[in-house]
Amino acid sequence: MGCLDHWQPVLLARNLGKKPVAVRLCGKDVVLFRTRSGKVAALEDICPHRRMRLSLGSVVGERLRCMYHGWTFDCEGAGESPASPKLYTCAQKYDVLEKHHAIWVKSVGSTPEFPAFEIDGYHNVCNLQHRAQAPLELVVDNFCEIEHTPTTHAFFGYPLERMHEVEVGFYPTDRTVRVVNRGPRKHVSWFLRAVLGIGGNHQFRDEWTTHFSPVYSVYDHWWQDPDSGAESRVRFRLYIFFVPRDDEETTIFTFAYTKSRYWGPAGGARLLGWLMRRKLDYEIRLDVGILNGLADKNPHVEGMKLSRFDRVLGLNRDRINRIYRGFASMGVTGDISEVDAGMPRPKIS
Ligand code: FES
Ligand SMILES: [Fe+2]
Repeated sequence: MGCLDHWQPVLLARNLGKKPVAVRLCGKDVVLFRTRSGKVAALEDICPHRRMRLSLGSVVGERLRCMYHGWTFDCEGAGESPASPKLYTCAQKYDVLEKHHAIWVKSVGSTPEFPAFEIDGYHNVCNLQHRAQAPLELVVDNFCEIEHTPTTHAFFGYPLERMHEVEVGFYPTDRTVRVVNRGPRKHVSWFLRAVLGIGGNHQFRDEWTTHFSPVYSVYDHWWQDPDSGAESRVRFRLYIFFVPRDDEETTIFTFAYTKSRYWGPAGGARLLGWLMRRKLDYEIRLDVGILNGLADKNPHVEGMKLSRFDRVLGLNRDRINRIYRGFASMGVTGDISEVDAGMPRPKIS
């Protein structure tokens, strides 16, 4: 399998209206359009006639019309020229799906499984799209370690002065990497403590599993009393997809869900949705600011001085190369064992 062979989100569905939209996936320019009957299609964003961008054209009924000479293309890419009716032409198409409030694209002929959303009992509270000026690997690095949370984040994560108390565990399988963190929580305002039901001695719990076809992490965030096991009133589950636009930019799609013990069929999802949209958008923008500011955007770990939280970098790279990009495993070392040697073993149950 190659990068284009996985089902990947390329646009939030609410952003595809009557006009075609240009997106970029793994270095390929793709045009998305929605026909008058509501069908969604994806074609290579180049007219086979004289290479105009099809995304600058318009939707006419069930077809996309190129703005240069008026040739039109249906959802399968089959083209017609008004000036040469017998001429056969075809634009390259992609398989496309509208699901979970997003438009998903893959190459024709590949047969990957669609990512499984395990959201029974959860309510969708917001869906977000951000763009980082950094390659896939460096974006995944940022979203898969919590050492940056004290200094980068306002809400999620752990306090800097107690970071040494945070326990971290890594649980890789052949196709996934699970990371489990537990430690003292950050200061949370009285309002949020009340809304989320966070107790005075609750710890912050932060666990996620990263998958690689396509590349995405499923995060569970909650607060918990370490002695009694009592949990906060609200849990968050985030599906975050990391989608390369090309070798230098990555789109980050966030699908946010909550499960709460509030009364009502949606468990206060409307209030939580408003809160989550604000908080999450802000927190992810902070991550994007960090990524945009990196001095060196070389995706390799060789030469980095890595900490006990960074073991995941090598585990992820191995699976990105092998499963997502379809390369033979190249083995990633990095300076991990030396740093790890002096650290206590993770004690997470
Ligand atoms: S370039 Fe598209 S119709 Fe001519
Ligand atoms: Fe972050």
